[in-house]
Amino acid sequence: MTIISKDISKAIKVLNRDELVAIPTETVYGLAGNIFSEKAIKKIFSTKKRPFFNPLIVHLYNYKQLESIVSYIPPKAEKLAKSFWPGSLTLVLPKNNQIPDLVTAGKDTVAVRIPNHKLTLELLEKLNFPLAAPSANPFGSISPTSAHHVKSYFEGQIEMILDGGNCNAGIESTIVGFNGDEPIVYRLGSTSIEDIEQVIGNVTIQNRSEAKPVAPGMLSRHYAPKKQTYLVDDVSLFLKENSDKKIGLLLFTSNIDATNVIHTETLSLEGKLIEATQNLYAALHRLDSKEIDIIVCEKLPNVGLGKTINDRLERATKK
Ligand code: TXA
Ligand code: MG
Repeated sequence: MTIISKDISKAIKVLNRDELVAIPTETVYGLAGNIFSEKAIKKIFSTKKRPFFNPLIVHLYNYKQLESIVSYIPPKAEKLAKSFWPGSLTLVLPKNNQIPDLVTAGKDTVAVRIPNHKLTLELLEKLNFPLAAPSANPFGSISPTSAHHVKSYFEGQIEMILDGGNCNAGIESTIVGFNGDEPIVYRLGSTSIEDIEQVIGNVTIQNRSEAKPVAPGMLSRHYAPKKQTYLVDDVSLFLKENSDKKIGLLLFTSNIDATNVIHTETLSLEGKLIEATQNLYAALHRLDSKEIDIIVCEKLPNVGLGKTINDRLERATKK
């Protein structure tokens, strides 16, 4: 039995026993364990069926803690942390020897962030250790943005889900690493490139890499529904050409009528990208549970968070 509860003291007890608790963050739910417990970290990988070469993000509750786990903070990293933490930005920095190799997959860098969620910040502050937490979904599938999504994936496999409601931002954090002092974006996320560039100037984006990904979230097929999913420029045309199929639609703002459309999810009636981001994964979860043959998604405007959503949809539709 997996319990869903808001009780922080219960979560602390479970984590102190080297067991896992799914935690809410503003981006997506994480599958959390003590970074210093080999047992807990191994359990994160086995529960997610995640390959060991794919390192985890370490979650902290304040900036001071950062100094105790990294060996160097580039000036631009400090600027980003000061501007966006707590928040949906992950920094990849040179680690110090405190951090177990299991957490970083043997890399000499560690990914860190301070999440912006009241309940989880309170939990982190009360614990004697930071939490490693990848998104709380089986490797490759859609990330969870509610306690219920986590339960549907891991019922009976983890002891507890700390219930913090629906995730506000709705898409994973943006990941920024450094080549020396030069910032490189490894994963688009819910902090937009435009917002990052306002703080530190131009950044290089390097989020596509197949064979040996720097950040395995870069793997091309990822964030994927179980149903065959398509990302198209012209939804009406696609519907005409596939009139024999039962279709679930994911639209940005508009509504399209066609007889073979069984269910439609509209991300933001007012065309707001923040709202669309918030709704994206819940909409994909709902579509995936319908009696349909395929999911058809409309491309979003390629600016700000629209870029992040298109990135996720492209990966969701890769074969
Ligand atoms: O919003 C988020 O970031 C969520 C919440 C729970 O914090 N977490 C999350 O974790 O998305 P996960 O494990 O699903 O994605 C973390 C990504 C992976 O693609 C991993 O490869 C990359 O971060 N990563 C972790 N450590 C890294 C490192 N040292 N160098 C490069 N990439 C790293
Ligand atoms: Mg993930």
